[in-house]
Amino acid sequence: MKNFISADQLSKEEIFNVLQRAEYYRLKNYKIKDQVFVANLFFEPSTRTKMSFTVAQKKLGLEVLDFHSESSSVLKGESLYDTVKTFEAIGANMLVIRHESDKWFKDLENKLSIPIINAGAGKAEHPTQCMLDLLTIYQEYASFKDLKVAIVGDIKHSRVAKSNMQALQKLGAEVYLCAAPGFEDDDLPGTYISMDEAVEICDVMMLLRIQHERHVHKTETSNYLDLYGLTRLRERKMKKHAIIMHPAPINRGVEIDSDLVECSKSRIFKQMANGVYIRMAIMMYLLEEWGIIREKNLEEY
Ligand code: CP
Repeated sequence: MKNFISADQLSKEEIFNVLQRAEYYRLKNYKIKDQVFVANLFFEPSTRTKMSFTVAQKKLGLEVLDFHSESSSVLKGESLYDTVKTFEAIGANMLVIRHESDKWFKDLENKLSIPIINAGAGKAEHPTQCMLDLLTIYQEYASFKDLKVAIVGDIKHSRVAKSNMQALQKLGAEVYLCAAPGFEDDDLPGTYISMDEAVEICDVMMLLRIQHERHVHKTETSNYLDLYGLTRLRERKMKKHAIIMHPAPINRGVEIDSDLVECSKSRIFKQMANGVYIRMAIMMYLLEEWGIIREKNLEEY
């Protein structure tokens, strides 16, 4: 793996390798000794992904280059390609990129001498979110085989849904989809069931935010919680051991009743915590693959 662009590029073995590395970094401090520069190039808003990459980088002892697209030469019309080539030229050793385009990486792959990590591509892919979601499920169930997972919400516009669907199916989970009319995605292979059915049969309820910023027309949400969201009534019908997940940011009172965000079944803030360790694992994986860091500590995993 030279770049981390899609959840689909990882084999089952590589997925488990990343999860084990993440658990290692969660339990042990690890700092690299070489000087390595990394830049987080975010062209779409982010709190969790950007900040957890930053914490992960600082924990590993990486030098984080500050970049804010709103005060950069992007405002003078500089393209993503030229921005990225600039960072490569000035000595960045790795780039983390989020962009509104579904395919921003197409112009960059095979044209760089440094690794790139996809921190979100339009409505197409969010592979590091996928990996932290897998870690959260793995910590709970220690296996994915035959686990019933419902991905619920604005499937059509969600990059998280696409990355998670691919990976969960590869790992042997049974994935169900629940969506309001207009939020289904015909290109995503999966069985659609109602929310009322999903809460009764699933081990994981993975909720999604309505992606208003990707809608052409304003979406009315006043009845959304009762019709399609996780209400307290539906939560009471969930299996005893079942968990609630959400990549956040959360529209409290829309896709989930606000009281459920921190209920005993919720793993939403645990997902965020896991994001730091997964991102440490992925960055280390790539830095080792490219020979950017000299030391190897693989035997310790
Ligand atoms: N889950 C997620 O990607 O959150 P941010 O948009 O805040 O990074």
